[in-house]
Amino acid sequence: MKVFLDHASTTPLRPVAKQALLEGLGVSANPSSVHTLGQQTRHMLEDARDSIAKSLDCNRSEVIFNSGGTESDNQAIKGLYWQRNKDKDRKIIISAKTEHHAVLDTIEWLEKSQKAKPVWVDVDSRGELNYQQLETLISDHGDEIALISLMWANNETGVITDIQHVCQLAREQSIPVHSDAIAAAGHMPISFKDSGLAAMTVSGHKLGAPIGIAVLIVGRSVKLESLVHGGGQERAMRSGTMNYPLALSFAAALEESVEQLDWRERELGKLRDYLETKVAKLIPEVEFTTSGANRLQDNSHMIFPGCQGDSLLFLLDLAGVEVSTGSACQAGVIGPSHVLMAMGKTEEEANGCLRITLGYNSTKADVDAFLDAIESAYAGAKRAGMSAR
Ligand SMILES: Cc1ncc(COP(=O)(O)O)c(C=O)c1O
Repeated sequence: MKVFLDHASTTPLRPVAKQALLEGLGVSANPSSVHTLGQQTRHMLEDARDSIAKSLDCNRSEVIFNSGGTESDNQAIKGLYWQRNKDKDRKIIISAKTEHHAVLDTIEWLEKSQKAKPVWVDVDSRGELNYQQLETLISDHGDEIALISLMWANNETGVITDIQHVCQLAREQSIPVHSDAIAAAGHMPISFKDSGLAAMTVSGHKLGAPIGIAVLIVGRSVKLESLVHGGGQERAMRSGTMNYPLALSFAAALEESVEQLDWRERELGKLRDYLETKVAKLIPEVEFTTSGANRLQDNSHMIFPGCQGDSLLFLLDLAGVEVSTGSACQAGVIGPSHVLMAMGKTEEEANGCLRITLGYNSTKADVDAFLDAIESAYAGAKRAGMSAR
């Protein structure tokens, strides 16, 4: 039996999400059709929208469905950038090098093709943002800034950003803030209404819904240019026939995730602390990358000195335990994690990391299986040395 400890990549489909998906697939009609069947699927879609609005504490009209977190991040950043440069030149985009590639590469594309000027806020060695630097940037360049995009929680390290504080700083200069909340939503309490955000990304497959469904929450008064043109669905921000079965499934997964937040905080927090205490005893040289930082309770990020995280991952996989290095893997090119490099780690340190992420069906037996396997996997990975790449 495989033990799955890589929930931050894609968490297994929740039974409630599967049931909702099947319910949606049971009726075939275009939700924009006026006939009875069309109205039936429209109701399904709008029920999903209501439920998501409740789970994320936003208005139902702010929920824009699309195909995934990558699309949401692209839509938010390009859309806000284009909108903010309509009447006046505002070329600066503030973000951080610890963001997911869906954000980083979008900003870099805007830099190459649309004269955007990215400014990256530093993080410290634990991955926490330099808020002082952000404040100075905003007060020095306020009217040149198109937008700020900072993730709510980091998908590799689990480190949490104080989004309310970021939005307070931005509000004084009326700068729109987007947050990629993919790692945070359903993992910690999120209120879009209280956050002060202009736009927020949440993706289904990190919550127990299928891959290929996400939302971009866009504040009611926020204007952004659309990436996709066509039939004008979803406030004309995302044309295309709406995928009501996936929307229903996403809503069910998110609702259950939010219902389980207290349990998650308490039980997965305990399990993660147990795992880290045991690992520290078994392998005293392990560095807990983010210890002391404000981080998600279900994430443990470690550096194993003197080995490649990939070797460790491979040996753990052979022992039936699935984890991740959390490192960048784009189009088959594997390199040291850009997140750890941004935190000031050396390439060698960044290559030796392991990310364990717990999920809604994780048990102590899963963690014990990891603990049983880690010592010999580490010994094997050290023997393989640093030349595995
Ligand atoms: C923080 C973050 N942003 C964006 C994405 C991309 O989302 P999707 O896979 O839904 O396109 C991911 C998924 O790995 C992620 O973890």
